[in-house]
Amino acid sequence: MNEVTLAIIKPDAYKNGVSGKIIDRIISEEFIINEMKQIHLSKKMAEGFYEIHRERPFFDELTSFMSSGKSIVLSLERENAVSKWRDVIGATNPAEAVAGTIRGQFGTNTGNNAVHGSDSPENGKLESKYFFS
Ligand code: CMP
Repeated sequence: MNEVTLAIIKPDAYKNGVSGKIIDRIISEEFIINEMKQIHLSKKMAEGFYEIHRERPFFDELTSFMSSGKSIVLSLERENAVSKWRDVIGATNPAEAVAGTIRGQFGTNTGNNAVHGSDSPENGKLESKYFFS
């Protein structure tokens, strides 16, 4: 059955000019792009999105980075979209990401890791609603 996942091309990847390459990869991995928009997140919107991490020591760094420039957010659909997208993007820390994954190719470090992916089908729906109501 088809699932939905939320992808974000983060400010580092956007600034580095690799958004097109990432979108090409999304299409070649047979995701349907149901929604897509360019957005410069406010600090508040970044904090709302990452609310679950509020108590983590990296929360301020994460939300400052996510509001530091433009991003592209995409709601993606395909069979097993959540696990498939997580396989395509690779480990959170680009140094641990398998070669050929998006974070392996375009990420710099755990904070500046090029892309986001939802961690469960439930969050895929909730996160898509956060940006595309
Ligand atoms: P993402 O998939 O967007 O979900 C939560 C984000 O928190 C994660 O990618 C990382 O970019 C970020 N993150 C996780 N751990 C750390 C950390 N130790 N320092 C900075 N950022 C982190």
